[in-house]
Amino acid sequence: MSDGQIAEEAPVDAAPAGSLKAEARKTALALEDVARVYPAGRGPLEVLRHASLSVAEGEMVALVAPSGAGKSTLLHVAGLLEKPDGGEVLVDGRAASKLGDEQRTALRRRHIGFVYQFHHLLPEFSALENVVLPQMIAGLSRSEATRRAREVLTYLRIETRATHRPAELSGGEQQRVAIARAVANAPKVLLADEPTGNLDPTTASHVFDALKVLVRESGLAALIATHNYALAAEMDRTVTIEDGAIMPVIVE
Ligand SMILES: Nc1ncnc2c1ncn2[C@@H]1O[C@H](COP(=O)(O)OP(=O)(O)O)[C@@H](O)[C@H]1O
Ligand SMILES: [Mg+2]
Repeated sequence: MSDGQIAEEAPVDAAPAGSLKAEARKTALALEDVARVYPAGRGPLEVLRHASLSVAEGEMVALVAPSGAGKSTLLHVAGLLEKPDGGEVLVDGRAASKLGDEQRTALRRRHIGFVYQFHHLLPEFSALENVVLPQMIAGLSRSEATRRAREVLTYLRIETRATHRPAELSGGEQQRVAIARAVANAPKVLLADEPTGNLDPTTASHVFDALKVLVRESGLAALIATHNYALAAEMDRTVTIEDGAIMPVIVE
Protein backbone atom coordinates (compact mmCIF):
# COMPACT_ATOMS: atom_id res chain seq x y z
CA MET A 1 0.00 0.00 0.00
CA SER A 2 1.42 3.43 -0.88
CA ASP A 3 1.58 6.31 1.59
CA GLY A 4 -0.99 8.14 -0.52
CA GLN A 5 -3.54 5.39 0.03
CA ILE A 6 -2.88 5.25 3.74
CA ALA A 7 -3.29 9.01 4.06
CA GLU A 8 -6.83 8.69 2.67
CA GLU A 9 -7.91 6.41 5.49
CA ALA A 10 -9.84 7.91 8.37
CA PRO A 11 -7.45 8.99 11.12
CA VAL A 12 -7.39 6.88 14.25
CA ASP A 13 -7.85 8.79 17.46
CA ALA A 14 -5.49 8.29 20.35
CA ALA A 15 -3.02 6.13 18.44
CA PRO A 16 -0.27 5.34 20.92
CA ALA A 17 3.32 6.01 19.95
CA GLY A 18 4.59 2.71 18.63
CA SER A 19 6.18 0.90 15.77
CA LEU A 20 3.81 2.28 13.16
CA LYS A 21 3.49 5.94 12.32
CA ALA A 22 0.36 7.45 13.82
CA GLU A 23 -1.04 8.42 10.42
CA ALA A 24 -0.61 4.89 9.14
CA ARG A 25 -2.66 3.34 11.92
CA LYS A 26 -6.02 2.30 10.67
CA THR A 27 -8.74 0.79 12.82
CA ALA A 28 -8.89 -2.93 12.05
CA LEU A 29 -11.47 -3.89 14.66
CA ALA A 30 -14.20 -1.74 16.17
CA LEU A 31 -16.99 -2.56 18.58
CA GLU A 32 -19.62 0.14 18.84
CA ASP A 33 -22.05 0.05 21.70
CA VAL A 34 -22.23 -3.74 21.64
CA ALA A 35 -24.75 -5.62 23.77
CA ARG A 36 -24.86 -9.36 24.42
CA VAL A 37 -27.58 -10.78 26.59
CA TYR A 38 -28.00 -14.41 27.58
CA PRO A 39 -31.35 -15.68 28.75
CA ALA A 40 -31.10 -16.89 32.33
CA GLY A 41 -33.43 -18.19 35.01
CA ARG A 42 -33.45 -15.05 37.11
CA GLY A 43 -33.93 -12.67 34.20
CA PRO A 44 -31.63 -11.97 31.24
CA LEU A 45 -27.89 -11.86 31.87
CA GLU A 46 -26.47 -8.70 30.28
CA VAL A 47 -22.86 -9.75 29.80
CA LEU A 48 -22.09 -6.84 27.48
CA ARG A 49 -23.88 -3.54 27.25
CA HIS A 50 -22.60 -0.38 25.62
CA ALA A 51 -19.27 -2.11 25.01
CA SER A 52 -17.09 -0.02 22.69
CA LEU A 53 -13.51 -0.60 21.65
CA SER A 54 -11.21 0.11 18.70
CA VAL A 55 -8.02 -1.73 17.92
CA ALA A 56 -5.66 -0.32 15.31
CA GLU A 57 -3.36 -2.16 12.94
CA GLY A 58 -0.18 -3.13 14.75
CA GLU A 59 -1.74 -2.48 18.15
CA MET A 60 -1.84 -5.01 20.98
CA VAL A 61 -4.61 -4.59 23.51
CA ALA A 62 -4.76 -6.69 26.67
CA LEU A 63 -8.16 -7.68 28.03
CA VAL A 64 -7.91 -8.39 31.75
CA ALA A 65 -11.05 -9.10 33.76
CA PRO A 66 -12.18 -11.63 36.38
CA SER A 67 -13.56 -14.97 35.33
CA GLY A 68 -17.17 -14.62 34.24
CA ALA A 69 -16.81 -10.92 33.36
CA GLY A 70 -17.43 -11.59 29.67
CA LYS A 71 -13.98 -11.82 28.05
CA SER A 72 -14.78 -14.90 25.95
CA THR A 73 -18.15 -13.45 25.02
CA LEU A 74 -16.48 -10.24 23.87
CA LEU A 75 -13.94 -12.15 21.79
CA HIS A 76 -16.65 -14.32 20.21
CA VAL A 77 -18.70 -11.28 19.27
CA ALA A 78 -15.61 -9.41 18.01
CA GLY A 79 -14.67 -12.49 16.00
CA LEU A 80 -18.11 -12.75 14.35
CA LEU A 81 -18.75 -16.14 15.96
CA GLU A 82 -21.68 -14.75 17.95
CA LYS A 83 -24.01 -12.00 16.86
CA PRO A 84 -24.43 -9.10 19.27
CA ASP A 85 -27.91 -8.28 20.53
CA GLY A 86 -27.22 -4.62 19.90
CA GLY A 87 -24.54 -2.37 18.47
CA GLU A 88 -22.12 -3.01 15.67
CA VAL A 89 -18.89 -4.87 15.00
CA LEU A 90 -16.66 -3.55 12.22
CA VAL A 91 -13.85 -5.65 10.82
CA ASP A 92 -11.54 -3.91 8.39
CA GLY A 93 -14.18 -1.18 8.13
CA ARG A 94 -17.01 -3.53 7.23
CA ALA A 95 -20.10 -3.54 9.44
CA ALA A 96 -20.95 -7.15 10.27
CA SER A 97 -24.66 -6.51 10.79
CA LYS A 98 -25.01 -5.45 7.17
CA LEU A 99 -23.65 -8.74 5.86
CA GLY A 100 -25.48 -11.96 5.18
CA ASP A 101 -24.37 -15.16 6.90
CA GLU A 102 -22.14 -16.24 4.03
CA GLN A 103 -20.44 -12.88 3.69
CA ARG A 104 -19.92 -12.68 7.43
CA THR A 105 -18.34 -16.13 7.49
CA ALA A 106 -16.12 -15.15 4.57
CA LEU A 107 -15.06 -11.96 6.38
CA ARG A 108 -14.24 -13.98 9.49
CA ARG A 109 -12.23 -16.59 7.61
CA ARG A 110 -10.36 -13.96 5.65
CA HIS A 111 -9.62 -11.39 8.32
CA ILE A 112 -9.83 -12.93 11.78
CA GLY A 113 -7.47 -15.35 13.46
CA PHE A 114 -8.29 -17.06 16.77
CA VAL A 115 -6.06 -18.55 19.42
CA TYR A 116 -7.60 -20.31 22.41
CA GLN A 117 -6.25 -21.35 25.79
CA PHE A 118 -6.16 -24.96 24.63
CA HIS A 119 -4.61 -25.40 21.22
CA HIS A 120 -7.59 -27.16 19.57
CA LEU A 121 -5.29 -28.64 16.94
CA LEU A 122 -6.63 -31.60 14.99
CA PRO A 123 -4.98 -34.64 16.62
CA GLU A 124 -4.80 -36.77 13.47
CA PHE A 125 -2.93 -34.18 11.45
CA SER A 126 0.64 -32.90 11.53
CA ALA A 127 1.55 -29.41 12.69
CA LEU A 128 1.99 -28.38 9.06
CA GLU A 129 -1.37 -29.81 8.01
CA ASN A 130 -3.06 -28.08 10.92
CA VAL A 131 -1.81 -24.76 9.54
CA VAL A 132 -2.55 -25.64 5.90
CA LEU A 133 -6.13 -26.90 6.23
CA PRO A 134 -7.89 -23.71 7.46
CA GLN A 135 -6.25 -21.75 4.66
CA MET A 136 -7.58 -24.22 2.11
CA ILE A 137 -11.03 -23.90 3.67
CA ALA A 138 -10.64 -20.13 3.22
CA GLY A 139 -10.03 -20.74 -0.48
CA LEU A 140 -6.26 -20.97 -0.99
CA SER A 141 -4.65 -23.65 -3.12
CA ARG A 142 -2.78 -26.41 -1.29
CA SER A 143 0.57 -25.23 -2.66
CA GLU A 144 0.05 -21.62 -1.63
CA ALA A 145 -1.30 -22.65 1.78
CA THR A 146 1.71 -24.93 2.30
CA ARG A 147 4.13 -22.19 1.32
CA ARG A 148 2.58 -19.79 3.82
CA ALA A 149 2.38 -22.44 6.54
CA ARG A 150 6.09 -23.21 6.22
CA GLU A 151 6.91 -19.52 6.28
CA VAL A 152 4.98 -18.83 9.47
CA LEU A 153 6.16 -22.03 11.19
CA THR A 154 9.72 -20.95 10.40
CA TYR A 155 8.98 -17.51 11.74
CA LEU A 156 7.72 -19.00 14.98
CA ARG A 157 10.80 -21.25 15.08
CA ILE A 158 8.84 -24.49 14.99
CA GLU A 159 9.54 -25.65 11.42
CA THR A 160 11.58 -28.59 12.72
CA ARG A 161 8.35 -29.95 14.24
CA ALA A 162 6.27 -29.59 11.07
CA THR A 163 5.65 -33.32 10.69
CA HIS A 164 4.82 -33.89 14.35
CA ARG A 165 1.28 -34.52 15.45
CA PRO A 166 -0.03 -32.35 18.31
CA ALA A 167 0.51 -35.15 20.87
CA GLU A 168 4.19 -35.17 19.85
CA LEU A 169 4.63 -31.48 20.70
CA SER A 170 5.23 -29.71 24.01
CA GLY A 171 2.60 -27.29 25.34
CA GLY A 172 4.56 -24.28 24.14
CA GLU A 173 5.06 -25.84 20.72
CA GLN A 174 1.37 -26.66 20.45
CA GLN A 175 0.50 -23.02 21.12
CA ARG A 176 3.05 -21.84 18.56
CA VAL A 177 1.37 -24.05 15.98
CA ALA A 178 -2.03 -22.70 17.05
CA ILE A 179 -0.70 -19.16 16.58
CA ALA A 180 0.74 -20.12 13.18
CA ARG A 181 -2.66 -21.51 12.19
CA ALA A 182 -4.37 -18.29 13.27
CA VAL A 183 -2.09 -15.96 11.31
CA ALA A 184 -1.08 -18.01 8.25
CA ASN A 185 -3.97 -16.51 6.33
CA ALA A 186 -2.64 -12.98 6.99
CA PRO A 187 -5.78 -11.81 8.80
CA LYS A 188 -6.25 -8.21 9.93
CA VAL A 189 -7.28 -9.13 13.46
CA LEU A 190 -5.94 -11.63 15.97
CA LEU A 191 -8.17 -12.58 18.89
CA ALA A 192 -6.64 -14.67 21.64
CA ASP A 193 -8.45 -16.06 24.67
CA GLU A 194 -5.90 -16.65 27.43
CA PRO A 195 -3.41 -18.04 24.88
CA THR A 196 -0.70 -18.71 27.45
CA GLY A 197 -3.02 -19.61 30.32
CA ASN A 198 -2.15 -23.27 30.13
CA LEU A 199 1.64 -22.83 30.03
CA ASP A 200 4.30 -22.55 32.72
CA PRO A 201 5.57 -18.97 33.23
CA THR A 202 8.79 -19.36 31.23
CA THR A 203 7.10 -21.02 28.28
CA ALA A 204 4.26 -18.49 28.47
CA SER A 205 6.75 -15.67 28.20
CA HIS A 206 8.52 -17.26 25.21
CA VAL A 207 5.26 -17.91 23.37
CA PHE A 208 4.11 -14.37 24.13
CA ASP A 209 7.39 -12.92 22.83
CA ALA A 210 6.90 -14.81 19.56
CA LEU A 211 3.34 -13.51 19.36
CA LYS A 212 4.47 -9.97 20.03
CA VAL A 213 7.09 -9.95 17.28
CA LEU A 214 4.55 -11.41 14.88
CA VAL A 215 1.98 -8.72 15.66
CA ARG A 216 4.54 -5.92 15.39
CA GLU A 217 5.94 -7.14 12.09
CA SER A 218 2.67 -8.00 10.42
CA GLY A 219 0.61 -5.00 11.51
CA LEU A 220 -2.09 -7.26 12.95
CA ALA A 221 -4.57 -5.75 15.39
CA ALA A 222 -4.48 -7.99 18.46
CA LEU A 223 -6.94 -8.28 21.33
CA ILE A 224 -5.63 -10.71 23.92
CA ALA A 225 -7.46 -11.86 27.03
CA THR A 226 -5.03 -12.76 29.79
CA HIS A 227 -4.81 -13.14 33.55
CA ASN A 228 -1.11 -12.42 33.38
CA TYR A 229 -0.43 -8.81 34.38
CA ALA A 230 3.22 -9.05 33.35
CA LEU A 231 2.13 -9.87 29.79
CA ALA A 232 -0.58 -7.20 29.86
CA ALA A 233 2.04 -4.60 30.82
CA GLU A 234 4.00 -5.44 27.66
CA MET A 235 1.06 -4.61 25.40
CA ASP A 236 0.13 -1.11 24.21
CA ARG A 237 -2.78 -0.75 26.60
CA THR A 238 -5.08 -2.73 28.82
CA VAL A 239 -8.85 -2.73 29.03
CA THR A 240 -11.26 -4.49 31.33
CA ILE A 241 -14.99 -5.29 31.34
CA GLU A 242 -16.93 -3.53 34.04
CA ASP A 243 -20.66 -3.82 34.26
CA GLY A 244 -20.76 -4.92 30.61
CA ALA A 245 -18.72 -1.96 29.35
CA ILE A 246 -15.08 -1.75 28.23
CA MET A 247 -12.98 0.44 30.51
CA PRO A 248 -9.31 1.38 30.28
CA VAL A 249 -7.05 0.26 33.10
CA ILE A 250 -3.48 1.14 33.96
CA VAL A 251 -1.27 -1.90 34.46
CA GLU A 252 2.11 -1.14 36.06
N1 LIG B 1 -23.98 -19.42 25.90
C1 LIG B 1 -24.22 -18.90 27.12
N2 LIG B 1 -25.47 -18.95 27.66
C2 LIG B 1 -25.70 -18.40 28.86
N3 LIG B 1 -24.79 -17.77 29.62
C3 LIG B 1 -23.54 -17.70 29.14
C4 LIG B 1 -23.18 -18.25 27.87
N4 LIG B 1 -21.87 -17.99 27.65
C5 LIG B 1 -21.42 -17.33 28.74
N5 LIG B 1 -22.44 -17.16 29.64
C6 LIG B 1 -22.31 -16.43 30.91
O1 LIG B 1 -21.86 -15.12 30.63
C7 LIG B 1 -20.90 -14.69 31.59
C8 LIG B 1 -19.61 -14.34 30.90
O2 LIG B 1 -19.01 -15.52 30.39
P1 LIG B 1 -17.60 -15.50 29.62
O3 LIG B 1 -17.69 -14.55 28.50
O4 LIG B 1 -17.26 -16.89 29.31
O5 LIG B 1 -16.64 -14.91 30.76
P2 LIG B 1 -15.04 -14.95 30.89
O6 LIG B 1 -14.48 -15.41 29.60
O7 LIG B 1 -14.65 -13.54 31.26
O8 LIG B 1 -14.73 -15.88 32.01
C9 LIG B 1 -20.77 -15.83 32.58
O9 LIG B 1 -21.58 -15.52 33.69
C10 LIG B 1 -21.29 -17.03 31.84
O10 LIG B 1 -21.84 -17.96 32.71
MG1 LIG C 1 -13.31 -17.05 29.14
